Amino acid sequence: VQKMILDVDTGIDDAMAIAYAVADPEVELIGILSSFGNIESDRAAQNALKILHLVGADDVPVFIGHQNPLDHNYQRIGVNSQIHGENGIGEVELPNPTQPVATQDGVNFLLTAAQEYGDQLTVVATGPMTNLAAAWEQDPATMKKIGNITIMGGALTVPGNVTPVAEANVEQDPVAANQLFTSDLNVTMVGLDVTLRTLLTKHETSQWRTTEAGSKMADIVDFYIDVYADLYPELGGCSLHDPLAVGVAIDPNFVTTIDMNMMVTTEHDAYYARTIGDKARLNDPNPNVKVAVAVDKDRYLQVFMDHFKQLFN
Ligand code: BDR
Ligand code: CA
Repeated sequence: VQKMILDVDTGIDDAMAIAYAVADPEVELIGILSSFGNIESDRAAQNALKILHLVGADDVPVFIGHQNPLDHNYQRIGVNSQIHGENGIGEVELPNPTQPVATQDGVNFLLTAAQEYGDQLTVVATGPMTNLAAAWEQDPATMKKIGNITIMGGALTVPGNVTPVAEANVEQDPVAANQLFTSDLNVTMVGLDVTLRTLLTKHETSQWRTTEAGSKMADIVDFYIDVYADLYPELGGCSLHDPLAVGVAIDPNFVTTIDMNMMVTTEHDAYYARTIGDKARLNDPNPNVKVAVAVDKDRYLQVFMDHFKQLFN
């Protein structure tokens, strides 16, 4: 069983990522930290608590992480309401959680856990990489102990979803993403290359409507499916961005990866927030990033649905 920490900007697909981790028998979810992006960090934490409550995992602590990108000269707008709804979870009202947000700072919690569990710990970030970069800045040696760092973010072989070159989580804090990629940490990048190929439709969400909690989750995800139908009619469903990253962290065989040294372009030009191979480290024999470029989407969807059926039956 892997000890796992999720770093989320909850967010509809972040909500699915939390549910997936709770349902997976291979995972012990030891905590969640929040970041900003789909919604502000403190509201992302509240949403995480509500989703945990919905899936009966009230005992998992939730910590507030960074509220702003590392590059303080360039503040982002707080809410991505067009895609995730004004409340981040598809305008669906959920019952209030029974536990409050934890008082310890999110980055401190991450470093304490890394110290305690070392290579038994898996960290999956499905929002901007600000907390990971800040933790690495603060204590690189402790971050190096973590067994597995998997991120949802970036795009290598396909266009971005914010600009032609930029994916949203990287675009929220390109400085942080670049710091992570150019650090000596081993990172698995689950980007749009694979998440745009891993889709969910109302055919699947309708199968959760057997319980009240399942119906709430289906309402949340159906909002996302409708948004995707408007914005990306060619896909035929919504992307399972964040839950795929959790799946890959548990079972790397869901994807095919290539080993690369990656960087992020941080100049404010047309290439802002692009994830690309680092020319300066082309001949490095030990590249530190595994970039997922192909996915066994049928097997993943099967496992995803098995997990959700277990939660909502
Ligand atoms: C990523 O951006 C966010 O909107 C989603 O939650 C996901 O993490 C996809 O680019
Ligand atoms: Ca997210």
